Amino acid sequence: MFTDFFCLMKKIFTISTIFAIAAFVSQCSQSESNTANQTTQDREAPKMYERSELAALMHEVHDLSAIWKEELENGQPLTPVPDWVSNMLTADATSPDELAAGPFEALAHEYIRNLEKLIDAEEGGRVDAFNTSIQTCISCHKIYCNGPIPKIEKLRL
Ligand code: HEC
Repeated sequence: MFTDFFCLMKKIFTISTIFAIAAFVSQCSQSESNTANQTTQDREAPKMYERSELAALMHEVHDLSAIWKEELENGQPLTPVPDWVSNMLTADATSPDELAAGPFEALAHEYIRNLEKLIDAEEGGRVDAFNTSIQTCISCHKIYCNGPIPKIEKLRL
Protein backbone atom coordinates (compact mmCIF):
# COMPACT_ATOMS: atom_id res chain seq x y z
CA MET A 1 0.00 0.00 0.00
CA PHE A 2 2.68 2.46 1.04
CA THR A 3 5.01 1.48 -1.79
CA ASP A 4 2.16 1.93 -4.27
CA PHE A 5 1.58 5.42 -3.00
CA PHE A 6 5.23 6.36 -3.35
CA CYS A 7 5.43 4.80 -6.77
CA LEU A 8 2.49 6.86 -7.88
CA MET A 9 3.99 10.05 -6.45
CA LYS A 10 7.25 9.29 -8.18
CA LYS A 11 5.45 8.78 -11.47
CA ILE A 12 3.57 12.05 -11.11
CA PHE A 13 6.77 13.83 -10.28
CA THR A 14 8.57 12.33 -13.28
CA ILE A 15 5.73 13.20 -15.64
CA SER A 16 5.51 16.79 -14.46
CA THR A 17 9.27 17.15 -14.73
CA ILE A 18 9.13 15.97 -18.34
CA PHE A 19 6.34 18.49 -19.08
CA ALA A 20 8.26 21.29 -17.45
CA ILE A 21 11.41 20.52 -19.43
CA ALA A 22 9.49 20.13 -22.70
CA ALA A 23 7.75 23.45 -22.15
CA PHE A 24 11.02 25.13 -21.30
CA VAL A 25 12.73 23.73 -24.39
CA SER A 26 9.92 24.86 -26.70
CA GLN A 27 11.28 28.22 -27.74
CA CYS A 28 8.16 29.46 -29.42
CA SER A 29 6.06 30.03 -26.31
CA GLN A 30 6.43 33.78 -26.75
CA SER A 31 9.26 35.78 -25.25
CA GLU A 32 11.70 34.27 -22.83
CA SER A 33 10.70 36.48 -19.89
CA ASN A 34 7.05 35.47 -20.35
CA THR A 35 7.97 31.81 -20.36
CA ALA A 36 9.82 32.16 -17.09
CA ASN A 37 6.79 33.69 -15.39
CA GLN A 38 4.30 31.11 -16.54
CA THR A 39 3.38 28.12 -14.46
CA THR A 40 3.35 24.65 -15.99
CA GLN A 41 -0.47 24.62 -16.07
CA ASP A 42 -0.61 27.86 -18.07
CA ARG A 43 1.33 26.46 -20.97
CA GLU A 44 -0.43 25.09 -23.99
CA ALA A 45 -0.30 21.30 -23.97
CA PRO A 46 -0.17 20.43 -27.71
CA LYS A 47 3.09 22.34 -28.30
CA MET A 48 4.91 20.23 -25.72
CA TYR A 49 4.74 16.92 -27.47
CA GLU A 50 6.42 17.11 -30.80
CA ARG A 51 8.23 19.65 -32.90
CA SER A 52 6.38 20.63 -36.09
CA GLU A 53 7.92 20.01 -39.49
CA LEU A 54 8.44 23.77 -39.85
CA ALA A 55 10.14 24.02 -36.45
CA ALA A 56 12.51 21.18 -37.39
CA LEU A 57 13.28 22.89 -40.71
CA MET A 58 13.98 26.14 -38.81
CA HIS A 59 16.72 24.39 -36.84
CA GLU A 60 18.28 23.28 -40.13
CA VAL A 61 18.02 26.83 -41.47
CA HIS A 62 19.74 28.09 -38.33
CA ASP A 63 22.60 25.62 -38.80
CA LEU A 64 22.89 26.54 -42.48
CA SER A 65 23.28 30.22 -41.57
CA ALA A 66 25.89 29.29 -38.98
CA ILE A 67 27.83 27.45 -41.73
CA TRP A 68 27.65 30.50 -44.03
CA LYS A 69 28.80 32.72 -41.20
CA GLU A 70 31.84 30.53 -40.65
CA GLU A 71 32.57 30.38 -44.39
CA LEU A 72 32.39 34.19 -44.56
CA GLU A 73 34.68 34.58 -41.56
CA ASN A 74 37.23 32.26 -43.13
CA GLY A 75 36.94 33.72 -46.65
CA GLN A 76 35.77 30.36 -48.02
CA PRO A 77 33.38 29.79 -50.96
CA LEU A 78 29.73 29.68 -49.82
CA THR A 79 27.67 26.49 -49.70
CA PRO A 80 24.90 26.77 -52.35
CA VAL A 81 21.27 27.21 -51.14
CA PRO A 82 19.98 23.65 -50.53
CA ASP A 83 16.68 22.69 -52.23
CA TRP A 84 15.02 21.83 -48.91
CA VAL A 85 14.96 25.50 -47.86
CA SER A 86 11.90 26.09 -50.06
CA ASN A 87 10.02 23.40 -48.08
CA MET A 88 9.52 26.29 -45.64
CA LEU A 89 6.53 27.24 -47.81
CA THR A 90 4.74 23.91 -47.40
CA ALA A 91 5.98 22.40 -44.10
CA ASP A 92 3.37 21.68 -41.42
CA ALA A 93 3.49 24.37 -38.76
CA THR A 94 2.43 24.44 -35.11
CA SER A 95 -0.14 27.17 -35.90
CA PRO A 96 -0.88 26.94 -39.66
CA ASP A 97 -3.95 29.22 -39.46
CA GLU A 98 -1.89 31.99 -37.92
CA LEU A 99 0.67 31.71 -40.75
CA ALA A 100 -2.02 31.64 -43.46
CA ALA A 101 -3.69 34.76 -42.02
CA GLY A 102 -0.49 36.85 -42.09
CA PRO A 103 2.39 37.66 -44.45
CA PHE A 104 4.25 34.39 -43.81
CA GLU A 105 4.32 33.26 -47.43
CA ALA A 106 5.53 36.63 -48.75
CA LEU A 107 8.25 36.78 -46.08
CA ALA A 108 9.36 33.22 -46.81
CA HIS A 109 9.71 34.11 -50.52
CA GLU A 110 11.65 37.23 -49.56
CA TYR A 111 13.92 35.15 -47.32
CA ILE A 112 14.64 32.64 -50.12
CA ARG A 113 15.33 35.49 -52.59
CA ASN A 114 17.76 37.02 -50.08
CA LEU A 115 19.61 33.71 -49.83
CA GLU A 116 19.99 33.61 -53.61
CA LYS A 117 21.29 37.20 -53.53
CA LEU A 118 23.82 36.14 -50.88
CA ILE A 119 25.15 33.35 -53.07
CA ASP A 120 25.30 35.66 -56.12
CA ALA A 121 26.86 38.58 -54.20
CA GLU A 122 30.25 39.97 -55.16
CA GLU A 123 33.05 39.36 -52.69
CA GLY A 124 32.70 42.85 -51.13
CA GLY A 125 28.92 42.65 -50.71
CA ARG A 126 28.67 39.23 -49.10
CA VAL A 127 28.65 40.27 -45.46
CA ASP A 128 25.86 42.81 -46.09
CA ALA A 129 23.89 40.25 -48.09
CA PHE A 130 24.30 37.73 -45.26
CA ASN A 131 23.15 40.23 -42.62
CA THR A 132 20.14 41.07 -44.80
CA SER A 133 19.18 37.38 -44.82
CA ILE A 134 19.42 37.29 -41.01
CA GLN A 135 17.31 40.45 -40.84
CA THR A 136 14.61 38.62 -42.83
CA CYS A 137 14.61 35.80 -40.24
CA ILE A 138 14.10 38.44 -37.56
CA SER A 139 11.33 40.31 -39.45
CA CYS A 140 9.34 37.10 -39.74
CA HIS A 141 10.04 36.14 -36.14
CA LYS A 142 8.86 39.53 -34.83
CA ILE A 143 5.46 38.63 -36.26
CA TYR A 144 5.23 34.92 -35.50
CA CYS A 145 7.71 33.64 -32.99
CA ASN A 146 9.66 35.97 -30.68
CA GLY A 147 11.44 33.31 -28.61
CA PRO A 148 14.39 32.50 -30.92
CA ILE A 149 15.20 36.17 -31.79
CA PRO A 150 18.18 36.46 -29.37
CA LYS A 151 19.59 33.24 -30.83
CA ILE A 152 19.09 34.54 -34.40
CA GLU A 153 20.74 37.89 -33.52
CA LYS A 154 23.93 35.97 -32.67
CA LEU A 155 24.23 34.88 -36.31
CA ARG A 156 24.83 38.46 -37.52
CA LEU A 157 28.28 39.40 -38.76
C1 HEC B 1 8.95 33.53 -43.20
C2 HEC B 1 9.05 33.49 -41.75
C3 HEC B 1 10.27 32.94 -41.08
C4 HEC B 1 11.58 33.08 -41.48
C5 HEC B 1 12.15 33.80 -42.69
C6 HEC B 1 12.38 32.39 -40.48
N1 HEC B 1 11.56 31.83 -39.52
FE1 HEC B 1 12.16 30.70 -37.93
N2 HEC B 1 10.23 30.32 -37.46
C7 HEC B 1 9.12 30.84 -38.11
C8 HEC B 1 7.92 30.27 -37.55
C9 HEC B 1 6.50 30.57 -37.98
C10 HEC B 1 8.34 29.38 -36.52
C11 HEC B 1 7.45 28.47 -35.65
C12 HEC B 1 7.39 27.13 -36.33
C13 HEC B 1 6.42 26.16 -35.71
O1 HEC B 1 6.42 26.05 -34.47
O2 HEC B 1 5.72 25.47 -36.47
C14 HEC B 1 9.80 29.46 -36.48
C15 HEC B 1 10.59 28.77 -35.57
C16 HEC B 1 11.97 28.93 -35.44
C17 HEC B 1 12.78 28.36 -34.41
C18 HEC B 1 12.29 27.56 -33.21
C19 HEC B 1 11.99 26.14 -33.57
C20 HEC B 1 11.44 25.39 -32.37
O3 HEC B 1 12.13 24.48 -31.91
O4 HEC B 1 10.35 25.73 -31.89
C21 HEC B 1 14.08 28.75 -34.63
C22 HEC B 1 15.32 28.41 -33.81
C23 HEC B 1 14.07 29.54 -35.84
N3 HEC B 1 12.77 29.64 -36.32
C24 HEC B 1 15.19 30.11 -36.40
C25 HEC B 1 15.19 30.82 -37.61
C26 HEC B 1 16.40 31.31 -38.27
C27 HEC B 1 17.80 31.18 -37.71
C28 HEC B 1 15.98 31.90 -39.42
C29 HEC B 1 16.83 32.52 -40.49
C30 HEC B 1 18.11 31.95 -40.80
C31 HEC B 1 14.53 31.80 -39.47
N4 HEC B 1 14.09 31.14 -38.37
C32 HEC B 1 13.75 32.31 -40.51
C33 HEC B 1 9.13 31.76 -39.14
C34 HEC B 1 10.27 32.15 -39.86
